[in-house]
Amino acid sequence: MDRKKFIVSSGMAVFAMSTFGRAIKSPEGFKGDCETTKDILGPFYRENAPKRQDLTYDGLKGVRFQIKGTVFTDDCTTPIKDTLVEIWHCNSDGDYDNKSNEYRQRASWATNKKGVYGFKTILLGKYLNGRLYRPAHVHFRVTAPGHKELISQIYFAGDPHITEDPWASQKKAEHRILQIIPEDTKGSLVVNFDIYLGTE
Ligand SMILES: [Fe+2]
Repeated sequence: MDRKKFIVSSGMAVFAMSTFGRAIKSPEGFKGDCETTKDILGPFYRENAPKRQDLTYDGLKGVRFQIKGTVFTDDCTTPIKDTLVEIWHCNSDGDYDNKSNEYRQRASWATNKKGVYGFKTILLGKYLNGRLYRPAHVHFRVTAPGHKELISQIYFAGDPHITEDPWASQKKAEHRILQIIPEDTKGSLVVNFDIYLGTE
């Protein structure tokens, strides 16, 4: 093997061994290779969403599921407590609540000592963006002291609308396309989304 080939293949080996398997180079100023990538804010963000973990209520249509995870700093292993995680998404008909005092399908919650957050909500519908449906998605805004604000979205594996969506189809979104997992013997559905923030 000549020197050039050796350098290329050893570089690939290091790449392949990366803890998180991220197919992206570590960004400038980020210690690990785990950074959660950004997505668009979209037009439907509302400030001051209620602090709650349960976004469901009597009469709400839709299959219940949980979104949960841990927020870590940029070394990819140290959890961040007291991180404000805000989520918002449309209902099962594809509509956002942009007006009501109930802030339906909107919530915020701070991570605990172990950096853990969690929400119970419903599997959501889709809405048109021009002539195309956006894939089902949940918006996130994540803020922690000493860290860069993250605005992002998660998507769901197998969604047929991902490939044509201008945002979900980007390479940087690939680690935000998540499996819905039947977690226990009772059919509880969960999506795990760990979040990695850059430092300021
Ligand atoms: Fe949206």
